[in-house]
Amino acid sequence: MGLPGAVPRRALIVRGAVGADATAVELLHQRGFAGIVSATGVDDALARIQLEHFDLVIVPMAEMHSAHLQLLDRAVQRAQSTFVVGTAETADPDLMLRGFRSGISEFLLLPLQPTEFGAAIDRLLQRIQAAGGGRDGTVIAVYSAKGGVGVTTVAVNLAHALAQVRQDDEVLLADLVTGSGDIRVHLNISPTYDRGDLMQKLDRIDKDLFRSVLTESVDGLWVLPGPDAAELNGALDGESTNVIINQMRQDFGFAVLDCDHYLGDSTIAALETADRILMVTDLSVAALRNTQRALLVARRLGYPDEKLSVVVNRSQSGEALSAVDAQEALKRAIYWKFPNDYRTAAGALTKGVPIARFDAKSKLSVSFRQLAEQLAGSHATASRNGAHPTGRTRMSQLFGRAPKRS
Ligand SMILES: Nc1ncnc2c1ncn2[C@@H]1O[C@H](COP(=O)(O)OP(=O)(O)O)[C@@H](O)[C@H]1O
Ligand SMILES: [Mg+2]
Repeated sequence: MGLPGAVPRRALIVRGAVGADATAVELLHQRGFAGIVSATGVDDALARIQLEHFDLVIVPMAEMHSAHLQLLDRAVQRAQSTFVVGTAETADPDLMLRGFRSGISEFLLLPLQPTEFGAAIDRLLQRIQAAGGGRDGTVIAVYSAKGGVGVTTVAVNLAHALAQVRQDDEVLLADLVTGSGDIRVHLNISPTYDRGDLMQKLDRIDKDLFRSVLTESVDGLWVLPGPDAAELNGALDGESTNVIINQMRQDFGFAVLDCDHYLGDSTIAALETADRILMVTDLSVAALRNTQRALLVARRLGYPDEKLSVVVNRSQSGEALSAVDAQEALKRAIYWKFPNDYRTAAGALTKGVPIARFDAKSKLSVSFRQLAEQLAGSHATASRNGAHPTGRTRMSQLFGRAPKRS
């Protein structure tokens, strides 16, 4: 997989982290790593990564103390395109969790299994490539543990609002739902190509090929539609999902993902790779229960709290449960509340246009616009067409208020 003409990759391996034999080093050579350096211990490794760049660092988790993890976290954040693999003889969940929180991207058990190690390195190489070239756009995954709460509605209209707020950035909306053509309906498009066609050519993916399967919709919003029917060739696996998302990140300023409710490999890969997750719920007991469970999974997977925001859809006064109850039940701040507006949501869907096109003055439309401004503002500088970050304080971002009534 070593790319012809690419700069040789550099790896730093802490003694004991890959076992005694040379298999790991061989696999790295095969993948285009030329400079493979070994460090005598964790302290030595941490000192070296302050001074020189490594694409990959492999550390023995058992030797990583809290102070090491803190230093590692800072070093990885500063370096931006250094990826860390942690290895250990046992899968201690606590240690793994702390590792993932401190910038470790992959965890592998010792003795290393060559196929597993190779697959992990391939995943990281995709990310190294994405981090090195291209524009490193922001990927926002919209997800709900339960169907019908408005994931597609939020994804479509947030993407459309982002395209309007950030006119100097290109925005992509991607349908990652198995067997769904929902975005086609929301935007009334009959695309020539879709995700199924992309899947056939994934081994050759690049900017031009990716662009050739996309459809341009209203107001400059780009769309990767899902396959029309539940075709087999449209089924996504984790690896393909990573490849597609990495391409989005290189080519677009923002990518919004309509994720499947089913937590399969593909959805987990999407949630993992995304910069932010908007977890949509409504205020029904069933939806909140599912959200609670999904939050537990996210915590177990080691997602940092800042990455995941709970958004309430169809919020309505006089409902059995309030947003405050939800906050209490979920032990999480509610980041955003979309008003319940059947007339607007259903009207836009029937016409096949984004909500802002159907009724720009509706509360629902204003809410999407404000959320887009907040998300774009916190991830990039204000665009040149006069959109300003909303100036909300950190506190109000954390304890997101319902959008102001207009
Ligand atoms: N804020 C809202 N107010 C009123 N109806 C909504 C709202 N958001 C979504 N809906 C409606 O709820 C239904 C399900 O939405 P959808 O986005 O398809 O959910 P999901 O993708 O989670 O299955 C649609 O008919 C949609 O028009
Ligand atoms: Mg949907």
